[in-house]
Amino acid sequence: MKIAIPLERRAHERRVAATPDTVKRFVSMGIEVSVESGAGEKAAILDNDYIVAGATIHKTRIETFEGADIILKVQRPRTTSDGGADGLGDYPDGCVLVALHNPFGDPIGVEHYAAKNIVSFAMEFLPRISRAQSMDALSSQANLAGYKAVVDAAAEYGRGIPMMMTAAGRINPAKVFVMGAGVAGLQAIATARRIGAVVSATDVRAVAKEEVESLGATFVMVESENDDTGQTEGGYAKEMSEDYKRRQAELLATHISGQDIVITTALIPGRTAPVLISDEMIASMRTGSVILDLAVEQGGNVTQSVGGEIITTDNGVVIMGHFNLPSRLASDASALYARNLYNFVELMIDKERQQLEIDWDDEVITNSCLTRDGKVIHPALLKEKKNSI
Ligand code: NAI
Repeated sequence: MKIAIPLERRAHERRVAATPDTVKRFVSMGIEVSVESGAGEKAAILDNDYIVAGATIHKTRIETFEGADIILKVQRPRTTSDGGADGLGDYPDGCVLVALHNPFGDPIGVEHYAAKNIVSFAMEFLPRISRAQSMDALSSQANLAGYKAVVDAAAEYGRGIPMMMTAAGRINPAKVFVMGAGVAGLQAIATARRIGAVVSATDVRAVAKEEVESLGATFVMVESENDDTGQTEGGYAKEMSEDYKRRQAELLATHISGQDIVITTALIPGRTAPVLISDEMIASMRTGSVILDLAVEQGGNVTQSVGGEIITTDNGVVIMGHFNLPSRLASDASALYARNLYNFVELMIDKERQQLEIDWDDEVITNSCLTRDGKVIHPALLKEKKNSI
């Protein structure tokens, strides 16, 4: 059996899908691992580190892929749906491909996999059950993104974060507001608290209140109608009613005008991110305040955020729209993501016979599989396609 790890070629991507640690684990199971030269360089892993761990290094992607049963990636391969050359050309027909495929964002790309008979699995679609926690790449990456958002925003903020008593006077602590208290938001709250900020947070899910308060932050929330929990059965946020959105905007408008740093992380799976910060709210903030929009790649929570840029508004508010925050911590993000992949791939391997053995009755497998037998099979994508016809 052979696993191949190519270099990531998309812009803003510094992570890699295997580390010397996971290579060693695969090799000890009797699996051959081939890595494209330079694949780990931006995550501070040199070719030689992979060689020491037992992998072979190849100069080109096509050589790396030769005879591979499984290809592990961070981001989806480039296909003609990206408007460029078909990056799938080198991929062996019928191989297993595991990555963060952004299936809702690029459904056409998924059809290209089907056409090449690729058996593709999306790490985003793993069920969030306890057995799959060690494979949960959304959580591992969101955790790092939440931390990095606070560190980046604090670096851009022209004042200190903690309260400081000095002979020359007192410096007040910064007020940090976190919008969306999921995995990234909770880590952002914890990080902002650790560096001494006064922290508040909001979410539409009522259960988030307890989690936010247990981290020492204040919860700011609109009361919903009829004891609505604000979440789906799967634990994700729901699209809220127009009345709720109006009341939320009114409450947040007063709160935001007094904040120094605002981190937005609000997402609704499969939809564009809700807009939470309006032009009026931005105009109400003090000069020098910082907003960091973690949802910028999904359309953004902030009206004026620009993907990949840091802008300053006319009233002096800095709005940060970094792409791919986990990639800005490429070493740690790769280490956690590679372990998520290892734990997932281990499920598909018959260790005694050192063969691929996919259990098509296992919900971890079925929930994450996008294409199989030359067809798109994931119910969420089929439903999406039906709705768009
Ligand atoms: P996410 O990345 O989909 O969304 C981020 C946060 O934004 C969520 O907390 C969401 O409720 C919030 N949000 C959405 N719309 C909003 C709005 N209009 N205003 C304010 N906030 C808004 O969420 P994430 O981090 O993936 O977590 C989703 C759920 O999954 C949570 O309930 C979390 O506890 C749960 N989870 C469960 C795990 C498990 O293994 N059982 C692991 C990780 C998360």
